Amino acid sequence: MNLSRREMIKLGLGLGALALLPEGLLRAQQTPLIQRPVPSTGETIPVVGIGTARRYDVGPSVEERARLKEVLRRFKEMGGKVVDTAPSYGTAETVIGDLVAELGIRSSLFLATKVGKRGREAGIAEMEGSRKKLRTDKIDLLAVHNLTDLDTQLSTLKEWKAAGLIRYLGITTSFDRQYDPFLQVMAREKLDFVQVDYALDERNAADRILPMAADRGMAVMINLPFGRGRLFQAAGKRTLPEWAPEFDCKSWAQFFLKYLISHPAVTCVVPGTAKVEYLVDNMGAARGRLPDATLRHRMEELIDRL
Ligand SMILES: NC(=O)c1ccc[n+]([C@@H]2O[C@H](COP(=O)([O-])OP(=O)(O)OC[C@H]3O[C@@H](n4cnc5c(N)ncnc54)[C@H](OP(=O)(O)O)[C@@H]3O)[C@@H](O)[C@H]2O)c1
Repeated sequence: MNLSRREMIKLGLGLGALALLPEGLLRAQQTPLIQRPVPSTGETIPVVGIGTARRYDVGPSVEERARLKEVLRRFKEMGGKVVDTAPSYGTAETVIGDLVAELGIRSSLFLATKVGKRGREAGIAEMEGSRKKLRTDKIDLLAVHNLTDLDTQLSTLKEWKAAGLIRYLGITTSFDRQYDPFLQVMAREKLDFVQVDYALDERNAADRILPMAADRGMAVMINLPFGRGRLFQAAGKRTLPEWAPEFDCKSWAQFFLKYLISHPAVTCVVPGTAKVEYLVDNMGAARGRLPDATLRHRMEELIDRL
């Protein structure tokens, strides 16, 4: 093991800790995160980000926020970037804006949010609110939430992008019934990102949306990668299959995320992550080997049997 004193301090390790940590774990923490390019610019982002629905909707108390602050601190330390939020997630935007400012990590992160209002003025007011709450002059990605008032909001997003107030624009959905209109928007508009639900047990997005995104040069952010936890319930107390190490998979979370990340059209996934223990686990999916087509097929068969 060739870790310098400086590298150890960077990893947050005292000299004594070196003897305690298994060599494999140390190596794993140093392996770079897998990155994917955003097709419209070539900028690369790590394949695993953080989703903030529900769990970041907390009050102002320091106690309530301390755990989330530690998650964001460690996320940045591990090289993470993408944080997905929305004005409709209660206080989440405010919480993220406050904690990111306290940590002084804004420039390291890629902040994605959404607009979900009807009407031009209401949309603009919501977007201005997001800038204020997130405490940023420039939002990295702003997407029309669930296609709400699509044409109106998309036209404002185009103006905001031209004015340099946002870096990327896009659309989101997590409903199969919206896939047809979603595909129509993808076919006619120039979008930087699409965000769609995709999970090992809910694979419809792979039929048409992911191929269309690849064809049209759009980045793909995956929401609901665990089906809001449904996949963990399906796996229950089962152990991982003996072939999981073939793609460096050490947990069910990594099993579910590596399946998604190994799809060539996927740019990043945003699992709901509000605990450090989950963060470390989920970020592990952005390291090491990914399943090939044969293994992906085995993963589908396994989950379909549960
Ligand atoms: N239309 C849209 O734009 C749209 C729709 C839906 C979601 N989204 C975005 O997608 C993100 C992800 O969706 P989601 O958060 O609803 O669901 P999810 O990511 O599919 O699942 C989150 C659940 O998984 C659990 N979990 C996370 N990491 C785990 C781990 N390593 N081991 C065991 N359990 C783990 C969490 O547990 P705990 O409950 O214990 O924390 C939580 O219940 C959202 O946060 C949001 O940013 C966007």
